[in-house]
Amino acid sequence: MSIVVTGATGQLGRLVLAGLLEKVPASGIAAVVRSEEKGAEFAARGIEPRIADYDRPETLKGAFHEGDRVLFVSGSDIGRRGPQHRAVVAAAQAAGVAQLAYTGVLGGPRADFTLADEHKITEQAILDSGVPYTFLRNGWYAEMYVGRIPQLFEQGALVGSSGEGRLAAAPRADYAAAAVAVLTGEGHENKVYELSGDDAWTMAEFTAELTRQSGRPVTFQNVTPERHKDILLGTGLPEFLADVFVDVDAAIARGSLAHTPGDLSRLIGRPTTPLADSIAAGLKELEG
Ligand SMILES: NC(=O)c1ccc[n+]([C@@H]2O[C@H](COP(=O)([O-])OP(=O)(O)OC[C@H]3O[C@@H](n4cnc5c(N)ncnc54)[C@H](OP(=O)(O)O)[C@@H]3O)[C@@H](O)[C@H]2O)c1
Repeated sequence: MSIVVTGATGQLGRLVLAGLLEKVPASGIAAVVRSEEKGAEFAARGIEPRIADYDRPETLKGAFHEGDRVLFVSGSDIGRRGPQHRAVVAAAQAAGVAQLAYTGVLGGPRADFTLADEHKITEQAILDSGVPYTFLRNGWYAEMYVGRIPQLFEQGALVGSSGEGRLAAAPRADYAAAAVAVLTGEGHENKVYELSGDDAWTMAEFTAELTRQSGRPVTFQNVTPERHKDILLGTGLPEFLADVFVDVDAAIARGSLAHTPGDLSRLIGRPTTPLADSIAAGLKELEG
């Protein structure tokens, strides 16, 4: 039996592995990666690499073993994740894993935006499989905004269509700590966690805090959804992704991503990282 992390080369997966290594020996951990080359860095640290690709079901056969506790990190190919994720679930079911923890989206089946559709399909596939599950319904990463600081300084504005809507975001590190908690703790089988920051903030509050800390003026410029889409298309974004981002802002405007049930802070045993700290960390990283 191993603790297995898919998406191990990704930003969330790396944080989860770092957290796991503080709690369990490397020999008890496996990292699912897409190639031998990507696996080499993990092997060098004593973590077992398992080579598999969500797009190639035949490769998923060796990804999981009976009794494994698995963190299934959702894939990044929006629009292709239905079949990809069903293949992962089928492989976990065939192997007889003991726990399949899945990184879904805040709100789960009640989420009212299109980006949630593939997560709903995946959660249903997991329920249908009968595999013991843990649903980690992640809210937004604070980095989705903090990671844009250089661009915001350049433009002097954050342009969006979320209006006065609030977002209960938290940094990836907090969501990773929650994943570590459910993979190494007991009693998380067949449980659902709605994970989000303890505080929800508006985009105007985000830009005001960024300005306060940096001394560089950045404002939030709210535009209509139609104008927002045009602006995104103007940056070269494919139309389907522009639609996804405008739809997410509409969801934020409706308050669909503002829930603060406290599951994340309870799982990690501390308050979630405040926005001000995430911004401070982002600015420090820029200083290099
Ligand atoms: N809550 C949020 O705000 C938010 C924002 C963005 C994304 N997400 C979701 O959260 C996930 C993790 O976030 P992240 O920041 O860690 O993303 P990331 O850095 O892009 O990492 C994605 C990981 O998934 C792996 N992957 C992608 N397609 C795969 C496939 N076909 N087969 C096997 N592995 C595959 C990637 O492997 P390679 O290294 O081989 O590419 C990588 O390890 C994302 O994939 C996405 O579903 C959430």
